[in-house]
Amino acid sequence: MPKNYDKVLKEVLKMIRPSKEQSERLKNLSKKVLDITNKEAKKVNAEAIIAGSLTRDTWLPDKNEFDIFIIFPKTLPVEKLEEWGLKLGKAIIKKLKGKWKIEYAQHPYVRGMVGNTQIDIVPCYKMEPGEKIKSAVDRTPFHVEYLDNHLSKELSDDVRLLKQFCNANKVYGADAKTEGFSGYVCELLVIKYGKFIDVLKNVTKWKPGDVIDIENYYTEKDHQKLRKQLKGQVLILIDPTDKMRNAAAAVSAESFFKLKKVTSEFLTKPSKELFFEKKFEPITEHELILTQIRRRTELLLVTFKPPKVVPDILWPQLRRFAERLEGILKEYEFDVLRKDVYTNEKDLALVLLEMQVSKLPSVDKRIGPIVFDLDDSERFIKKYKGHSVAGPFIEKNFWCVEVKRKFVTAREKLLDSLNEKEDILKEKGIPNYIAEQIAKKFDIISESDKIMKLVKKDNDFGVFMRKYFEKESLV
Ligand code: UTP
Ligand code: MN
Ligand code: MN
Repeated sequence: MPKNYDKVLKEVLKMIRPSKEQSERLKNLSKKVLDITNKEAKKVNAEAIIAGSLTRDTWLPDKNEFDIFIIFPKTLPVEKLEEWGLKLGKAIIKKLKGKWKIEYAQHPYVRGMVGNTQIDIVPCYKMEPGEKIKSAVDRTPFHVEYLDNHLSKELSDDVRLLKQFCNANKVYGADAKTEGFSGYVCELLVIKYGKFIDVLKNVTKWKPGDVIDIENYYTEKDHQKLRKQLKGQVLILIDPTDKMRNAAAAVSAESFFKLKKVTSEFLTKPSKELFFEKKFEPITEHELILTQIRRRTELLLVTFKPPKVVPDILWPQLRRFAERLEGILKEYEFDVLRKDVYTNEKDLALVLLEMQVSKLPSVDKRIGPIVFDLDDSERFIKKYKGHSVAGPFIEKNFWCVEVKRKFVTAREKLLDSLNEKEDILKEKGIPNYIAEQIAKKFDIISESDKIMKLVKKDNDFGVFMRKYFEKESLV
């Protein structure tokens, strides 16, 4: 039975296409900003361009944002580039009577709010095509040019659909939290496959390690090599402006399969709903208690105040922290069943550890050498004689001993390991910014009523807890 995709997509487009009025407003404002910027930029030998989705008409009205890039000569020292980039950015936003703050990519840049429009003013270096770039943002002018020449106007709504689709399903953006598909990647996919529906038909065929090479820089044989070089990158989308770069490097296996999953859903049953974020209710106390009875696991939440760093640093450190905690517990035979991390990026960060083994006996049995191994046996006996709870005794010709266990609960072990000064925490492999915070203060909670207190204060945390237990299937 033929599916009526068009009808659904038309309805979605009605909701995500900017109005003429909004379009005009953004275009006029961007021209004005470009003029002001260029006047200022000339004084320091730089030149401004409009970059990002506004140039190709692929922006979404909800975001209401555009990007201005200030291109500096490559002879300018990087400190100067940063200094002037910020100076110009601030001056421009002030002139427009807006508010600004500093954001960080490779270089700090200015993010202004003028009315309800967001304006990113990003400094970069002017590079020749093929030349080795100095920082990631230096590629942007090449992207602007490539898309100008290759993304046809008729396909801009298809990019909008793809961005909205990704966004609704939490896989839009190459930032560290999302690890998904950037605007540029969405645009490249539309260039490669054409209409939105054709993009989806191809996405369902993707396999991890697939290579998409729009400009055919490589042969089939090269793909094998690329796969080896870029091991761990689930989708390899050769950047048409730089064949050494994977434009989809940020895409995690999870985002990859999530997109495949919702794509299949849409293709079998087209529905508008897949274009809009699903809302979840926070977990209730009743559900939390019931889940724990059913799963018979113990929850340990290590909570602390997030360090004041940008999300692109915070999220990876938080994930590494979780890995370390699992490792620390594992050394003492406490096993983590599953774990996750959460932060509202303001006043709460946490690692959730769901324990498979969180309690151990107060005795620990050590199995030593076989009795025929005389030297080792002597050492073993010497070490444990008089310091054991039982033994040394023999089991099947092996020396054994029971000693007192230092930590009988995972919680005790965690408390002991984290109750340290900052430098000790760092030595233990706790990521730097997080070590600073943990040294100041942290809590370990596992009781349902305490968890619910956090839920009451932070709705998103409650949603996180629900999603943790109702872990969705990715197939
Ligand atoms: P955007 O994130 O604004 O993406 O970055 P976009 O393509 O305009 O898409 P939407 O519609 O806003 O979501 C614009 C350009 O700026 C560069 C990227 O190269 C991108 O092409 N950029 C911006 C960075 O590299 N890093 C940043 O932190 C910000
Ligand atoms: Mn943008
Ligand atoms: Mn931007």
